[in-house]
Amino acid sequence: MPTDRVSASGITRIGVLTGGGDCPGLNAVIRAVTKDALFHGMEVFGIEDGFLGLIEDRIRPLTNDDVSNILGVGGTILGSSNKANPQKFAVGKNTDGTPVWRDMTDVCMTHLQIHGIQALVVIGGDGTMSAAKPFADRGINCIGVPKTIDNDLWGTDITFGFQTAVAVATDALDRVHTTAASHHRVMVVEVMGRNAGWISLHAGVASGSDVILIPEIPFDLDVVCDFCLKRNQRGKRFSIICASEGAKPKGGKQIIERYDPTSPDPIRLGGIGKWLANEVEQRTEIESRYVVLGHVQRGGTPVPGDRILATLLGDHAMRMLHTGKRNRLVVMQGGILGDVEITAAADKQRLVPLDDPLIEAARSVYTCFGDQ
Ligand code: F6P
Repeated sequence: MPTDRVSASGITRIGVLTGGGDCPGLNAVIRAVTKDALFHGMEVFGIEDGFLGLIEDRIRPLTNDDVSNILGVGGTILGSSNKANPQKFAVGKNTDGTPVWRDMTDVCMTHLQIHGIQALVVIGGDGTMSAAKPFADRGINCIGVPKTIDNDLWGTDITFGFQTAVAVATDALDRVHTTAASHHRVMVVEVMGRNAGWISLHAGVASGSDVILIPEIPFDLDVVCDFCLKRNQRGKRFSIICASEGAKPKGGKQIIERYDPTSPDPIRLGGIGKWLANEVEQRTEIESRYVVLGHVQRGGTPVPGDRILATLLGDHAMRMLHTGKRNRLVVMQGGILGDVEITAAADKQRLVPLDDPLIEAARSVYTCFGDQ
């Protein structure tokens, strides 16, 4: 039991929400926050579907029972939305089909006041933190907890959800390995990550993929094809290519799968796997197939590392609240829990540095990044 803490903050009611795309470990944070708050005599309100629930006043009290048995459950018991930004919320469509935007900040403030919520724990990415800022400016203490499978949040070394996504992708790559070897094929596995190559780099290395393509290193298709052909000549009659959805050829562009104008982050990447498999097959005459892992990487049971990280971050968020710290984003830097200003990560991305030791280690075992 957390006996060493007394909430000196004077806060008696908090709200908790999960915003943006879901990821494994969200429930572990909700559990840590709720149990700690209840222990300290606070009331906790769960806001459904991220800021959408705040806009629509879908806010319900959370009890210990609500958060019991959810540590190892994927997704979020509160639901999430990656479209509801209270400052710019689509309330309908113009005649030309473009969204009609409205600022719903005052509506949300009214709902917070009705429920007597003095502080918010917002679990999300940089978009969720930016969306929390106007509430912080109006006196609601907003404490952010970073999440994303992409691991691309600026200011923190690792986000929960990432380790699970890497485990899922690694398992898929391992499975593809045996079928590729049996059929002497090139198999392309497209993984998520937006503009950051963390999932591809880590899963690629963990699975011993032959080629790893990440957005940070634009690839030369000739180099990739030549590499696969040379493997064939050496008697390795198959190749595994692990490609980030954001990977792009030198001088080329990322492939966009869809565009959603009602989302604060409207671009959805996807399609590089299919494109690559076709190109490689045409150029090398080696039969090629592709697999798009997609949301499988985001769903299901969080690995222990994500449960632990999520619990640590949730606990630290509550420590912020108890000690009266205001409007902070909980971070992990160099293995140490800390905090930065809540919008410090806004509009920034933590991409894979080109001198990342894992890139060097992969090159040392002859992994091709498509650039040389
Ligand atoms: O940010 C997490 C993420 O899964 C990205 O890796 C991916 O590009 C995107 O979200 C997919 O978004 P959606 O769930 O809206 O399709």
